[in-house]
Amino acid sequence: MRSAKDFFQPQALGAPQPVREIPFRPSRMIHFFDPSNPKMAAKVPELATKCDVLLGNLEDAIQASNKVAAREGLVKIARETDLGDCQLWTRINSLDSPWVLDDLIELVTQIGDKLDVVMVPKVEGAWDIHYVDRILAQLEARAGLEKPLLIHAILETALGVANVEEICAASPRMQGLSLGPADLAASRRMKTTRVGGGHPGYVVREDPNPDNEDAVRSTAQQDLWHYTMARMVDACVASGILPYYGPFGDIRDAVACEDQFRNAFLMGCVGAWSLHPAQIEIARRVFSPPVEEVKWAKNVLEKMGDGTGAVMIDGKMQDDATVKQCRVMVDLANALSENDPELRKAYGF
Ligand code: GLV
Ligand code: MG
Repeated sequence: MRSAKDFFQPQALGAPQPVREIPFRPSRMIHFFDPSNPKMAAKVPELATKCDVLLGNLEDAIQASNKVAAREGLVKIARETDLGDCQLWTRINSLDSPWVLDDLIELVTQIGDKLDVVMVPKVEGAWDIHYVDRILAQLEARAGLEKPLLIHAILETALGVANVEEICAASPRMQGLSLGPADLAASRRMKTTRVGGGHPGYVVREDPNPDNEDAVRSTAQQDLWHYTMARMVDACVASGILPYYGPFGDIRDAVACEDQFRNAFLMGCVGAWSLHPAQIEIARRVFSPPVEEVKWAKNVLEKMGDGTGAVMIDGKMQDDATVKQCRVMVDLANALSENDPELRKAYGF
């Protein structure tokens, strides 16, 4: 048993006070870069002007022989680069790997004041969050940090999905979750080798034509990730944290990437990962509410006055609930407009 009032106590003497609310900062795209690659590192200042979040990746996609170089590269970049309004996150190695302890020690003590969020892969249950929570507190105390680091977990194992609510509620540091379709597919023994997106074999088919047995029966591809996305969004929102779609691996298929991102946006996600500069713009477009929707929502809010009762607008019924829906749209548009004069103008704020 642990008393509720102790939930917000620091986990180590001298560690900063945990946050009570997860700050909403634009994070439409979490753009991954390899800090061990000097070419990519050189592009960071320019990318920072285009991205809401830049993430120095230390985990999968970084060769074992480059793990230390990636960690050191990230320290150097964080120290030497002014990222402006762009947040800096990192994805540490998995908790069972030989690198993670040094990832945490080095990053928090050397650049803890520059990092906003630590992404933890392959989280399986609340115990994984508790482990990171305590170590972060100890290291924050050692480094004399004033602001607590936040934790973002990747939902990418079957056990993680089974425990998703507990993961979200495991610590006041929990900032959000990303769906990791590649590792999740492997963990579940799904038979897809794609990173996100649909699969031509996962379909529903129309009934046979009783008058013509040989007639072609149309099929519609279904979304392999719908169930997980829905669970993730509910679990996140129930704990006041933010849901994200993760990677879309087919970089050349910009259309399907946009579809996957938009499905996530419509279901409540606030952003997605971008693995290539071409995906940055897609995420920006998709995760910023459409101008027409925002104008419609502003109109509804205006006509609904104090937000109670019911009115008809263009033949569509509006009441207290649609006012709440419209507020979601307008509040997001407002928040995104703060640092984006172009958006502000388009939304008419
Ligand atoms: C992301 O890490 C994934 O496994 O999809
Ligand atoms: Mg993964």
